[in-house]
Amino acid sequence: MRFAQITDLHIKPPGELAYGKVDTAHFLNLAIDELNALGEQLDAILITGDLVDGGKPEEYRYLRSCLSRLQVPFYLMVGNHDAREALRAEFPDHAYLNDGGTYVQYAVDVGPLRIIALDSIIEGASAGTLCDERLAWLDTELQQSRDRPVVVALHHPPFSTAVADLDGILLDPEAARQLAALIQTHPNVERVISGHLHRTLYARFGGTIASTCPATAHQVALDLRENAAPAFIMEPPAYALHLWEPASGLVTHHVYLAKYDGPYLYGADNASLS
Ligand SMILES: [Fe+2]
Repeated sequence: MRFAQITDLHIKPPGELAYGKVDTAHFLNLAIDELNALGEQLDAILITGDLVDGGKPEEYRYLRSCLSRLQVPFYLMVGNHDAREALRAEFPDHAYLNDGGTYVQYAVDVGPLRIIALDSIIEGASAGTLCDERLAWLDTELQQSRDRPVVVALHHPPFSTAVADLDGILLDPEAARQLAALIQTHPNVERVISGHLHRTLYARFGGTIASTCPATAHQVALDLRENAAPAFIMEPPAYALHLWEPASGLVTHHVYLAKYDGPYLYGADNASLS
């Protein structure tokens, strides 16, 4: 079973650039080309939020036209830049978007793996949370999923990054504590995956591994100084390719979204592998 995670597409209305600089739809189209090239190697694609930049109907319309080229089934999640009702209005055929009532959260099976997608947003705010209702829903879903491997996905990472600039916009610490306590009681949770940070991070969390995925377009500039101004940088776009096998569990490849020189066969001049 293989699924790709792409995140933080930040689609603007046609002709507009994110932050006046980034043609995010262009980058999404490059990602779609790469994912389509994988063809039957992929079972699904999970898009972990910040689908659009401003939560506007015209942005979701443009997103839909871009995603219509995808040849692999895909599932949509909300991030802090999204608006639940505008998203649902543009994707009425994605019925799972209504499974969580008020919240855009759902469970889907991709082969033997169950993905439980959580809604961690506070509309209008950058930081995230999980209220009692969302945590109770997750509790029920996890109880019903004890017989299979599970990936829990939410836009906001639930762990500290140790970078002051980033830590102010994560899942609130009390929600993260409650989420960790819940995950801890379900050892079949293979991974907790997020977007939001536009970088790759890993942390121990609730007895499993939590990770984030780079964005399809711009990345967040890493600056460890305490008073660093938030900035973005055009580091290589990338995605996460999650592979699940019974013997190995979930294994993740970090894959760059760009054209590079090669590949060259190792056997061509008797070079050994790696
Ligand atoms: Fe984002």
